[in-house]
Amino acid sequence: MLFLGIETSCDDTAVAIVESGHIVRAGIVANQDDYHRRYGGVVPEIAARKHIEHILPAVQYCLNSASVKPEDLTAVAVTHRPGLIGSLIVGLTAAKCLSLSFDKPLIGINHLEAHAYAACFSGMEYGTGNITLVASGGHTSLLMFSGKTMTLIGRTADDAAGEAYDKVAKLMKLGYPGGPVIDRLARTGDPGKIRFPRPMLDRDNFDFSFSGLKTAVLYHMHKYPHSAPEDIAAAFQDAVTDVLVTKTLSAAGFHRIDTVCIAGGVASNSELRARFNSESRKRNIRVFIPPPQLCTDNAVMVAGLAYRKWTGGCHSSLDLSASADAGLIQTF
Ligand code: KG4
Ligand code: ZN
Repeated sequence: MLFLGIETSCDDTAVAIVESGHIVRAGIVANQDDYHRRYGGVVPEIAARKHIEHILPAVQYCLNSASVKPEDLTAVAVTHRPGLIGSLIVGLTAAKCLSLSFDKPLIGINHLEAHAYAACFSGMEYGTGNITLVASGGHTSLLMFSGKTMTLIGRTADDAAGEAYDKVAKLMKLGYPGGPVIDRLARTGDPGKIRFPRPMLDRDNFDFSFSGLKTAVLYHMHKYPHSAPEDIAAAFQDAVTDVLVTKTLSAAGFHRIDTVCIAGGVASNSELRARFNSESRKRNIRVFIPPPQLCTDNAVMVAGLAYRKWTGGCHSSLDLSASADAGLIQTF
């Protein structure tokens, strides 16, 4: 079964064709970083307009490179929530048009669930009960998968983890996107030289907050203008990593779940991946981390999850709407 997946929830225009949930036949991500770099973050209006330009060539590219004809497809899947509303509408409208013109069913996909599905490309069996951390430029969400239900058990009160990386990189004039730059710079720094706060670690819940940490970096830079950038990067990354690892593993302990996954752009961070692996091992928790290209936004995860939805009897009608909201009720 072949699924065409479309992902336009933020600034990446991604299309993929995946066979039976796990065989990647084609995939492309048209990256927009060059258009957003000068603003130090994603500009929603620009993102939506660029999706319009990129979407159909990306679909055509995938059909050609996989040697798939529209009639070979089982269905057209698309991210319809959560995300930037203008961006979502472009992808959803394109998917509806393709569904109509190819005469194939439409399957609406939740972006957070798709990120979590990416762990199935690194060995996790679909349906395994787990706690998934989705940490990206738009989200820091803790999801609990149990049976057929996905429950939101934690989220950020303000900035997302990736957003904090991007904003700190902007303060430090390191460029955009900030995550990969800080990740590289931190390797040469000493995280022990500066102690930044670990927001919300003392709270008795699984929510996050990163805007205070960003402000702490700003104050530090004002107070110690000669502080080495690599030490600031390493200390900031250490604080973010500490919070993400500790909260995720304590959620697993609290809910007595022995499997965790991490996903989203921040999950491609080298320190976070290493720390999740070592800390999970100490606690006898299995950890699944997708390869970096499936952590950042992509459509392979959308087309892969679509197979599970379809075989589980789900599809959407053509009046499916886009929503900025995750559509998940938060429980603790
Ligand atoms: O999942 P993603 O591609 O798009 C969103 O849904 O936002 O995530 C992008 C975010 C950006 O904030 C970027 O700075 C961050 O992921 N990121 C990283 C790394 N690579 C990307 N953050 C930390 N370390 C990285 N290596
Ligand atoms: Zn994402």
